Amino acid sequence: MLPALRLLHDPVSYLEAQRRRYGPVFAIRFPGLPPEVFVTTAELAERVYALDAEGGRAGEVRRRFLEPMVGHHSLLTLDHEPWLRHRRLLTPPLHGRAVSGYRDDIARIAAEEIETWPLGTPFALRERVQRITLEVILRLVFGIDDARRLARLRVLIPRMMEAAGTVVLMLPPGVRERAASLPLRRVPFLGRFAELRAEVDGILYEEIARRRALAEAGADGGTGTDVLSRLMAARDEDGRPMPDRELRDELITMLQAGHETTATGLAWAFERLTRAPQALERLRREVDAGDDDRYLQAVVKEALRCRPVVWDVSRLVDVPLRLGGYEVPAGWFASPLIALIHRDPEAFPQPDVFRPERFLGPEAARANRAWQPFGGGRRYCVGAQLALLEMRVIIAEVLRRVEPLPADPGRPERQRMQHVTLVPSRRARVVVRARTGSPQEARPR
Ligand code: HEM
Repeated sequence: MLPALRLLHDPVSYLEAQRRRYGPVFAIRFPGLPPEVFVTTAELAERVYALDAEGGRAGEVRRRFLEPMVGHHSLLTLDHEPWLRHRRLLTPPLHGRAVSGYRDDIARIAAEEIETWPLGTPFALRERVQRITLEVILRLVFGIDDARRLARLRVLIPRMMEAAGTVVLMLPPGVRERAASLPLRRVPFLGRFAELRAEVDGILYEEIARRRALAEAGADGGTGTDVLSRLMAARDEDGRPMPDRELRDELITMLQAGHETTATGLAWAFERLTRAPQALERLRREVDAGDDDRYLQAVVKEALRCRPVVWDVSRLVDVPLRLGGYEVPAGWFASPLIALIHRDPEAFPQPDVFRPERFLGPEAARANRAWQPFGGGRRYCVGAQLALLEMRVIIAEVLRRVEPLPADPGRPERQRMQHVTLVPSRRARVVVRARTGSPQEARPR
């Protein structure tokens, strides 16, 4: 079987087999792409991340897949000076302190959704938590509060993401690049995606224009606490605001990078937790006591450790790079393979066991050093603090309201590849029961 097909079929086993056969550094050739050299220890990963200081062009690697969706001015796909300018503008609104103010809003959004969950009937948790993470992006990142626009985007965005998924998967890279360079509507295959994207863009530009008008009229346009308001108020080193086109691209970037990933992280957290009753019980006690969230933080870390959402992060190598006795030529990809780095027994003894305790106590320093679900170097995920906050708040809200159980207790879910992510094969199927004394208990069935 071709490497690409074996990887699709059972990614982690296939990659583990490569590591057993070739050691901690190995290469795979995927059709239509430069050869890719994977590294599977945290030390080697640091060597790759160090490229970010000069020329590990992460943007160029992603551009071929993502540009039709995120446009030309996205943090994901830019490199060099334009990337740095955008990174400086996006970092402050997504900083830990800035997003910590969203805690109560996230809890409210989560509670509204959890109240609609069926009791006693199996359902796929990932779809349901994705509604929460989408709502967080729409209301707290885009800052949209108009009911009509919100309702329209709730319908359009999942359709647009699905259409983009088929576009990305079904065209071979060379063809896709050529197609993406044409006006999208001329290619019938891409027409549906282009229509959805145009409608979403229309709503976003309306929203940007509305805020500008408010700001010019001296109303609250420039002082809102959502990420878009903060971005619109920001100025680069030359005192320039971000133009509308670039604002649009960065909004779609945060949507693209931020809502499905966080939902997948949450789905895995529940898939693992519901199969680890002791950890679940300890966490429930901590959430009920409400005065400490150290165990919750460790649970989130352990979920992202043993089931990392993004399985690898790549850099395009500019000048030859030595990695563990191998020389990677310029023009190849070098990629920390998060899925295996998080299974390195040196850093994470008994890697198959779900044990949040490894992030508490004396072994925590070693575990933290190798933990990298958000990548590393200068391209480290700019939304990591928001994602971690969402995961903590949403898990706590779920546990306060319901008791989650696995729908198929004897069958852990497989890691299935979906673009650059690994999702639970049955989308984290659970059954939930109302907790005694929770608002859910009083609900009519
Ligand atoms: C659990 C959820 C998430 C995971 C696992 C995740 C993971 C990642 C990873 C692995 C990277 C690549 C880092 C590298 O190349 O070294 C990345 C980049 C990025 N992420 Fe996230 N992410 C998550 C949530 C978010 C959120 C909520 C946002 C925004 C609201 C976001 C925005 C971005 C952006 C814009 C980049 C590109 C950064 C750059 O190249 O400078 N992510 N993320």
